[in-house]
Amino acid sequence: MKKLLYTSSAMFFLTLSYGGSIDEGKILFENKCTACHTTTRPATLEAMNSLIAPPMQGVMRHVNMAFGYDKKAAIAFIKDYTLNPSKEKALCMPQKIDRFGLMPSQKGVVSPEELDKISNYLAAAY
Ligand code: HEC
Repeated sequence: MKKLLYTSSAMFFLTLSYGGSIDEGKILFENKCTACHTTTRPATLEAMNSLIAPPMQGVMRHVNMAFGYDKKAAIAFIKDYTLNPSKEKALCMPQKIDRFGLMPSQKGVVSPEELDKISNYLAAAY
C-alpha cells in the first residue's frame, strides 16, 4: 500500500512537471511565433489572404508526415529550422516559400532554452 502511494505520488509529480513545461512552451510559442504563424487555418478567405506565414497546424502536419510522426525528429527539425532556415531544408510546399518568402532566422529572438520548450510543446500539441 505504501509503495503504491509512493508510486502514484511520483507519477503525479511527473505529470505536473511535464505539464508545466508544456504550458511554458505554449506561452513562449504565443509570444515568439504567433506574430507570424496563426495556430489554425483561418476560416475566411479574407483572413487566408492576409496570412504572413503558414498556420502552425499545416506546418506541423508536414513536419510530422516527413518524419513518420517521430516526435524526437520533429523537435530536432523545428529547433534547427527556426535558427537556420533554408530553402533546401524546408519541408513545406515550395509555393509557400514563393508566397511568404523564407522564414527569417529567429536567432537572438528566441533562446535555445526557449526554443527547446516551444518545440516540445509543438510536438506534443500537434
Ligand atoms: C517574421 C515571421 C516569422 C516568425 C516570427 C516565425 N516564423 Fe516560422 N515561418 C515563417 C514563414 C514565412 C515560413 C514559411 C517559409 C519557410 O518555410 O521558410 C515559416 C515556416 C516555419 C516552419 C516550417 C519550415 C518548413 O518549411 O518546413 C517552422 C517549423 C517554423 N516556421 C517554426 C517557427 C517557430 C517555432 C517560430 C517561433 C520561435 C517561428 N517559426 C516564428 C515566418 C515566421
